[in-house]
Amino acid sequence: MDAISVIRTKRDRGELSDAQIDWVIDAYTRGEVADEQMSALAMAILLNGMKPHEISRWTDAMIRSGVRMDFSSLPLPTSDKHSTGGVGDKITLPLAPLVAACGAAVPQLSGRGLGHTGGTLDKLESIPGWRALLSNDEMMDVLRDAGAVICAAGDGLAPADKKLYALRDVTGTVEAIPLIASSIMSKKIAEGTGALVLDVKVGSGAFMKNLDDARELARTMVGLGTTAGVNTVALLTDMSTPLGLTAGNALEVRESVEVLAGGGPADVVELTLALAREMLAAAGVHGKDPADALRDGSAMDHWRRMIAAQGGDVDAPLPVAREQHVIPAPASGVLTGLDAYAVGVCAWRLGAGRARKEDPVQAGAGVEMHAKPGDTVVAGQPLLTLHTDTPERYDYAIEALAGGITVAPEGTAFTPNPIVLDRIA
Ligand code: URA
Repeated sequence: MDAISVIRTKRDRGELSDAQIDWVIDAYTRGEVADEQMSALAMAILLNGMKPHEISRWTDAMIRSGVRMDFSSLPLPTSDKHSTGGVGDKITLPLAPLVAACGAAVPQLSGRGLGHTGGTLDKLESIPGWRALLSNDEMMDVLRDAGAVICAAGDGLAPADKKLYALRDVTGTVEAIPLIASSIMSKKIAEGTGALVLDVKVGSGAFMKNLDDARELARTMVGLGTTAGVNTVALLTDMSTPLGLTAGNALEVRESVEVLAGGGPADVVELTLALAREMLAAAGVHGKDPADALRDGSAMDHWRRMIAAQGGDVDAPLPVAREQHVIPAPASGVLTGLDAYAVGVCAWRLGAGRARKEDPVQAGAGVEMHAKPGDTVVAGQPLLTLHTDTPERYDYAIEALAGGITVAPEGTAFTPNPIVLDRIA
């Protein structure tokens, strides 16, 4: 077997055999297939696609490149959720302890942000003392104690994906549906969860810009999960505008705690509850309603235990950026557009995100929104507050907002998109 013949097969629109897939994933993980050869193959896959059986074998080969976790010794069924990434998407933070409070265990292996989408671990690291890196034993201890754990995936889990994802990120090959589906599902299947709910984002702030592509990605991932024995469901959810009123690490933790305290923005609460109900149903847990667990403080109790078990000081003040700058509403009328991608890039440039994997993020940086699409605004009223420790970035960050804010004359009829656009099971 050699890399060139595998690349040629896909370049010429052929189907890769099981043996070719097994060999290329294994040889790439071991360093025998070079990065430039894998880049050429990834580009051929992006351009020419893969058949369902090829995607399934590719996913399986990536799972076999590393270890599989096993939660079967836990007394509760396990349920996890994965978002394909968005702006202001802090849902994992209130969701994991909420589902734990309702009777399922949530082993959530999360990632860091890259580009304009935020990462769950970066958000939680703004809590003083909180640790993302846990050994397998520590992870089990947190799960037993708090019912939920959010931590970094160890190096042993789908190492082929770790290498390939970093390569795709710098070769313009992230947006291939077979590669996204196999990347996400190899990690989730290797993680060993019994049930999985996928939050497939659609819109300007997401990888999938339209519903048809999002449906294809969701169907592919649900198929992979189901074949592997994981009870998998996908919700397609709106990412044309940011979720909630904050985009940025500590800002999003603050908003998540508001949701756990029974408040918070309506869209964040709605999506958290919708995903929680799906996660519980997929795990076969039919006890407490998640809305009650937000009201009665039990979700907050699980949050406090989960954060404290990972070294976090739940009562410590969250970091605040050194400088704030207000962007006023450009006109009076109805806010009809607050573009997710524009706000995401603005928050990223303020320091909330990183341009390269090794860059640090600013805990306090980001964008606070004072209105949502559909709200009436008055010219000059504060519309956004930009937070950063590095005010020299303001001009560059504000450039990202160009064309991203639209205000229509007062009285203009406007219906915001529903949060949940479709469900695929
Ligand atoms: N998230 C992943 O883990 N992999 C992808 O390819 C895209 C998003």
